[in-house]
Amino acid sequence: MLFDYLREKRWIMISGKGGTGKTTTAAATAIKFAEEGCKTIVVSLDPAHSLSDSLMMEIGPSMKEVSGFRNRLYALEFNPNMLFMEEKEKIERALKEMGNLDEMMIPPEILELVGGGEVLPVEFAEGIGFIRLFEILKDSDFDKIIFDTAPTGHTLKLLELPDYLDSFLGKMIKIQLRLSSFFHTIKAFLRLEKGPDTAKQALEAFEKLKEIVNNLRQTIRNEKKTEFIVVTIPAIMSIYESMRLIGELDAYEIPNRFIVVNMVRIYKGECSFSNSLAKMHRRNLEEIRKAFPDKNIIVVPFFVQEIRGIDSLKRIINYLESFTIEKAFEAYEKGVCID
Ligand SMILES: Nc1ncnc2c1ncn2[C@@H]1O[C@H](COP(=O)(O)OP(=O)(O)OP(=O)(O)O)[C@@H](O)[C@H]1O
Ligand SMILES: [Mg+2]
Repeated sequence: MLFDYLREKRWIMISGKGGTGKTTTAAATAIKFAEEGCKTIVVSLDPAHSLSDSLMMEIGPSMKEVSGFRNRLYALEFNPNMLFMEEKEKIERALKEMGNLDEMMIPPEILELVGGGEVLPVEFAEGIGFIRLFEILKDSDFDKIIFDTAPTGHTLKLLELPDYLDSFLGKMIKIQLRLSSFFHTIKAFLRLEKGPDTAKQALEAFEKLKEIVNNLRQTIRNEKKTEFIVVTIPAIMSIYESMRLIGELDAYEIPNRFIVVNMVRIYKGECSFSNSLAKMHRRNLEEIRKAFPDKNIIVVPFFVQEIRGIDSLKRIINYLESFTIEKAFEAYEKGVCID
């Protein structure tokens, strides 16, 4: 049922709290579609990458083919911050060469941006890095693009970038665009066409960036193309976090119809610890059902073995495919035991 629904979509983003099983879900989904013959890429956006560990192969920042899928499966561990940091140094140098910064009345946002300020730069950096990646993938021949997002990801924040750029632009005009070499570097970073470094072109560069981000925003919101899947575990704190995340996704009008509840203990037997755990998980599944009456809820059992490597990921696929919360309740009723 989950995969039937995703079959129509090109962009699949997996998000949720840390340690809930995002990477596992992303890798399993990618394997499923690659096996069906879709050209698939799974991209980790989490700076603490664990996609390599999950697929049991070394991936790193350049795209790798996952063997055994007849050129259908690729993986990438993307680091948007690293990309930005390299450029940041160039921008810093360009600004220093321009002399007295105070005299130029540079807006604090720009100084923050180049000076390692706290709030804005990280989001901006991740955003810019992601935009570059998005542009490349958009024009690629991948049928399925699956993102394993960072738990604290600023992926959503970047949707606000066009508004930010508007205010940024306003300030730029005020200082009469004296930062031409700064713009030059920004332009180079965005891989925009080179040419005479005029203020007009600099403005065009920012307009172009806004257009790209608006395009990205439209794609992410497009029901026909994109789906966000929220992964959670059957614990109250994780349920609250999912509520907040879903609230944010809804506010941005991003399609999100599925919740995966991972690591659910389904057990009835001799072990009193497992019996109690299963009871608690069943109760929390009921809470999840109540909290999200409109969502399709998929359950993945908690396995005795850690999920690593293609074979154990395939085990996850079977559950993602069809094990709905209703089926999980039936399994509890029947006293089924899944190890
Ligand atoms: N259903 C499951 N049963 C048993 N082990 C699981 C299950 N799902 C995931 N795991 C294991 O739990 C750990 C965390 O899973 P995973 O790395 O997919 O989570 P994550 O949300 O990506 O974590 P992070 O936020 O750190 O990126 C991994 O060691 C994985 O093998
Ligand atoms: Mg992960």
